[in-house]
Amino acid sequence: MSLSEHSIDDAKATALAAIASAASLEELKEIKVAHIGDRSPIARANQQLGTLSPEERASFGKIIGQAKNAIAAAFEARNFLLEEERDARVLVEERVDVTIPAKRTLKGGLHPLTILTNEICDLFLGLGYRVAEGPELEAEWLNFDALNLPEDHPARTMQDTFFIEPLDSHLVLRTHTSPVQVRTMLEEKPPIYVICPGRTYRADELDATHTPVFSQVEGLVIDKGITMADLKGTLDHFARSIFGSDVKTRLRSSFFPFTEPSAEVDFFFNGRWIEWGGCGMVNPKVLIACGIDPDIYSGFAFGMGLERTLMVRHGITDMHDIVEGDVRFSQSFGLGVK
Ligand code: DAH
Repeated sequence: MSLSEHSIDDAKATALAAIASAASLEELKEIKVAHIGDRSPIARANQQLGTLSPEERASFGKIIGQAKNAIAAAFEARNFLLEEERDARVLVEERVDVTIPAKRTLKGGLHPLTILTNEICDLFLGLGYRVAEGPELEAEWLNFDALNLPEDHPARTMQDTFFIEPLDSHLVLRTHTSPVQVRTMLEEKPPIYVICPGRTYRADELDATHTPVFSQVEGLVIDKGITMADLKGTLDHFARSIFGSDVKTRLRSSFFPFTEPSAEVDFFFNGRWIEWGGCGMVNPKVLIACGIDPDIYSGFAFGMGLERTLMVRHGITDMHDIVEGDVRFSQSFGLGVK
């Protein structure tokens, strides 16, 4: 482009028209490069000043300077306007209504039975016990024989026990948590202080007070000089922690093949005696089967149903509520589910 007043006016007019027509900040940015940047017609004209005579340089310098200023001023004005428009638009488009109620995600929670189990484990952990667990699919020998429940014992008949096929696998769904006693005694040397919560199975119909899949908690202590007084004291403490500090327990003489003597433990709650579970001094035959010398060690054991414990404590009258998994049941405890 040869330098002339006309060409500078032209470049200025084109730049001003482009700036005026810029509809967005992005467009304006491109226009800036084309009409104000180093390669713009005005910048090129400026570069040509060096080739001119001093007089021409002065007069063209002035014209070019004025054109540059006019373009820069137009750019700033347009830029300001477009920024204002953008800010106003963003305020509308990105408006947040802070009064809209927040979406809450359900946190989930523990089943009341699990909460009770944890409560019992915590209680016994505090007394120095360890939590022990065993498999729900259990060896028949551990579930029965080792506990001095012989082949012809009624608890072993098809009625009560879920046997696993093939029958010569000698596996059952454990009918109680007592095999965990045996497993513990086979694996560890006394002193033993364990609490064993877990799921258990018996061929019962589900009704208001029975369920074929239920839960028990088993306690086992083997040490030197353990007596029935230790058992009674432990059960008293257990009952008071679960049902309240004024709860009394009593032992009623009973029979279990794996304890001798054996007792049923009842507790007095809301004006009546309620059966809670079985207990007794570990039968020396069981100690011997587990490789523990009954002349040196003695011990006690107890086992109770957790559903029953939960039902009594919370006045639940229908087992269905516990097993059916309706979240409203857990929520009614105000426990965990928010
Ligand atoms: N295992 C027994 C049952 O399921 C309960 C029981 C009784 C557990 C006496 C014990 C015990 O540890 O000593 O009926």
